[in-house]
Amino acid sequence: MEEENEKIIEEAQSAAEQATTSRGLYEAKMKFLGRTGKVTALLKSMREIAAEQRPAFGKKVNELRERLEALFAAHEAKVKEKELASKLESERVDVTEPGRHTAKGALHPITRTRNELIDIFAGMGFEVFEGPEIESEYYNFTALNTPADHPARDMQDTFYITDEFLLRTQTSAGQIRLMEQKKPPIKMLSPGRVFRSDDDATHSPMFHQMEGLVVDKGITLCDLKGMLDQFARTMFAETSKTRLRPSYFPFTEPSVEVDVSCSACGGKGCPLCKGTGWIEVLGAGMVNRRVLENCGVDPDEYTGFAFGMGIERIAMLKYGINHIRLFTENDVRFLEQFKD
Ligand code: DAH
Repeated sequence: MEEENEKIIEEAQSAAEQATTSRGLYEAKMKFLGRTGKVTALLKSMREIAAEQRPAFGKKVNELRERLEALFAAHEAKVKEKELASKLESERVDVTEPGRHTAKGALHPITRTRNELIDIFAGMGFEVFEGPEIESEYYNFTALNTPADHPARDMQDTFYITDEFLLRTQTSAGQIRLMEQKKPPIKMLSPGRVFRSDDDATHSPMFHQMEGLVVDKGITLCDLKGMLDQFARTMFAETSKTRLRPSYFPFTEPSVEVDVSCSACGGKGCPLCKGTGWIEVLGAGMVNRRVLENCGVDPDEYTGFAFGMGIERIAMLKYGINHIRLFTENDVRFLEQFKD
């Protein structure tokens, strides 16, 4: 018995030494102390032993069990310590290493400029209205008092889908759609994409416009001028001024072209303003009575002003961008410059 116990201890010792993980050690331990282990087998064999030898036998088996338990406990502590050390090693964080940066996106300069414009005009009480990009000839031209022989109606300038439908050439079409739906007082802002058969450094076949329309009793050109001054000061510089030059648009009478004092040179003259001190930013005017009539608004009771600007043009002036193509090339070196 004595000898046999020593053999079991030796076996257990070598099994414990071979185990390198907690799990391996547990499995080794179960071979001796588990339900089907060697010690349990010895206890079961007690039945076959003569009654007078049983106490001595039981004592020996208990001794064996205690020694085995102590042996495995000692190994368990060692294996756990090793496991913890290797876990800590593998999870080590080197706080002196440079961090990994996550690239942050930015709004496209057109979206950004559009949002800025909306903010400015919303602050003056304008509501946003968006018309469709595919328009009928009626909304894009006829209702806007643009006669059939007007050059803008030419195939050279307009993308026609059918004889009747086209890609809108101006957000002005939204003026008609809104006035058909809503009676004055009106203060509308209409941003959107427009399309023209045009392509050079400052023109692209697709670009964005921002349309404005105000209709109420007693609206005058002075209201337009005052609102434009406010717009220029907020969009460009606190010291910006505006000036109106006579112009022609079929849907406004009188019509004006609006210049803003050059924010690059403060009006002294520089390459950006071609030495004039002024930069043209938008077209505007008092809504033509015929346009009001076309929408069922009485021109003797109501008057209004309208304006339209190119968002690309405003962005080019504000951020010093020299080619319109930059907006659509998606070059990240360009786009990255508009991060907040
Ligand atoms: N629709 C004009 C264009 O595309 C811009 C414009 C001029 C809009 C005068 C207006 C306006 O509302 O009153 O060039």
